[in-house]
Amino acid sequence: MRTLEWDVNNQNLRMIDQRLLPGELRFIYCNTAAEVASAIREMVVRGAPAIGVAAAFGMALAAQRSRAVNRPQFLQELQEAGETLRAARPTAVNLSWAVNAILKMVMESSASLSELKHLILDAAQCLADEDVAINRRMAEHGAQLINDGDTIIHHCNTGALATVDWGTALGVIRYAHESGKHVHVLVDETRPRLQGARLTAWELQQYGIPFDIISDNAAGYFLQTGQAQKVFFGGDRMAANGDVANKIGSYMLALAAHDNGIPVYTVVPTSTVDLTLAHGGLIPIEERSPEEVLGLQFQGQTVVPRGATARNPAFDVTPARLLTGIVTENGVIYPPFEINLLKVIKTSEGDQE
Ligand code: MRU
Repeated sequence: MRTLEWDVNNQNLRMIDQRLLPGELRFIYCNTAAEVASAIREMVVRGAPAIGVAAAFGMALAAQRSRAVNRPQFLQELQEAGETLRAARPTAVNLSWAVNAILKMVMESSASLSELKHLILDAAQCLADEDVAINRRMAEHGAQLINDGDTIIHHCNTGALATVDWGTALGVIRYAHESGKHVHVLVDETRPRLQGARLTAWELQQYGIPFDIISDNAAGYFLQTGQAQKVFFGGDRMAANGDVANKIGSYMLALAAHDNGIPVYTVVPTSTVDLTLAHGGLIPIEERSPEEVLGLQFQGQTVVPRGATARNPAFDVTPARLLTGIVTENGVIYPPFEINLLKVIKTSEGDQE
């Protein structure tokens, strides 16, 4: 089952409502680009590749619902839909990457409006299928880094739910498991939204991969005491030098791993690399509602005192120097990242020509 899929009968976008997992598996249907943007903002769908593809289908919905009678009007509507979708979440570059890819295709095409509507839907579908294929390729490359018997610390959710299907870092772990390697996963619970404890644990149960959930602040202990051999996480945006923005807490995890000589791998499709940014300090970091921090309960009780305030950055930047390798669909990249990243991006562009 795909995390998000075009519903051919209803001509709309069907997505798993990830806010309800693991308690309930329910779908949500989006009929307009604005509804897709709101689903992205509210975390119905999350994970960089998944929100990129959701945005592409959002563009397809804008096109399908358009009543424009001429090309400039049609373009204007698409540009506006693109703006709304891009603004939904600022850190993952996959969102603007997907919107821009659709807009570029439209600008360069001389097709009629009705043909364009079909072409845009086809392009979104293509991005969805490509995402699955790219994840499989990353999994194959990344699984070579995992040894039989490894215990791996994993942060956030990077599985099928964070993508169209299969996953990035969790896809690598799944591939290693399915190839017969014995792996054990220490699942960072990933506060404040608990993507690890809720979503990664749910996925691992289904794949039959052994795991234990750990509180985020326990990771250093496991690394220091030799109880974890690797760290794997995904990425929402990677700068040209290899600095990578990922779920808040990734930086501390990478620091602790580095201090203990444990390899750290990030698994990112080349669409997550933003070559326009020289370093990670330039990546916009989403700050979400303090309610996500303040609303936590323990044993049925609200944790914080009434009137407490909170800060809630959703991502942090792990400097490239803390990364051992970057797994992409074109292979594993090692330092110097600023040179080797450019080479694999060129390979990807070459593939598309
Ligand atoms: O806020 P989220 O749940 O969208 O954050 C997701 C992550 O940080 C993932 O690690 C990231 O998107 C890369 S893996 C698909």
